Amino acid sequence: MSDFDIENIYAQIADDLRSTGLSIIENAVDPKIIQALNERIASLEEDTFQTAGIGRQSDHEKNAQIRRDKIRWLEKGNAQEAGYLDAMDELKSYLNRRLFMGLFSYESHFAHYQQGAFYKKHLDAFKGKANRVLTTVFYLNEDWCTEDGGELVIYQAEDHDKELCRVLPKQGTLVTFLSDEFPHEVLAANKSRYSIAGWFRVNASTAAHIDPPR
Ligand code: OGA
Ligand code: MN
Repeated sequence: MSDFDIENIYAQIADDLRSTGLSIIENAVDPKIIQALNERIASLEEDTFQTAGIGRQSDHEKNAQIRRDKIRWLEKGNAQEAGYLDAMDELKSYLNRRLFMGLFSYESHFAHYQQGAFYKKHLDAFKGKANRVLTTVFYLNEDWCTEDGGELVIYQAEDHDKELCRVLPKQGTLVTFLSDEFPHEVLAANKSRYSIAGWFRVNASTAAHIDPPR
């Protein structure tokens, strides 16, 4: 067992979500898990990352105006990725116990923002259609400062034009928020930037309609 106090962190996330719908926590993941993720990224060739899409949109030019990151989905079959996915599974169980959120599944991808890459303001889910209910963003960048750009800008749930806060993509920081409430954007990064974006879904399947996992 690691001596990392994860229960305390999950409790803080639950409290934050209940009071504001948004949680920002530094050093939120066991350093051993972070090390495994960094080793995993170092072992992956750049060409295993793919151009990210927007929804079912397949217009590549339009897409590139909105986001320029490259992504690679995490899989439980890889031990280094499984450490992080297991931690998110535990978070899911914790939030379901404490807040009765009914979270059902989790999907996540590494995102690589090369120098100059950005992701314009967007919502991760739309009201009513929201089976993506909770977003997580986790950062893997050592020594990041304001001059490096690439901040996550989060806008107010009540007024989508008003900035709420900015988050530096510093290694160990975990941001969790209600997917259909908070518009957000990634400012252009001035150097290579790695994150893991993930989403918890509720189960939207019915007998007549099987909700696909992705
Ligand atoms: C996303 C996203 C934010 C980040 O992938 O939907 O908003 O900081 N990512 O990487
Ligand atoms: Mn997003």
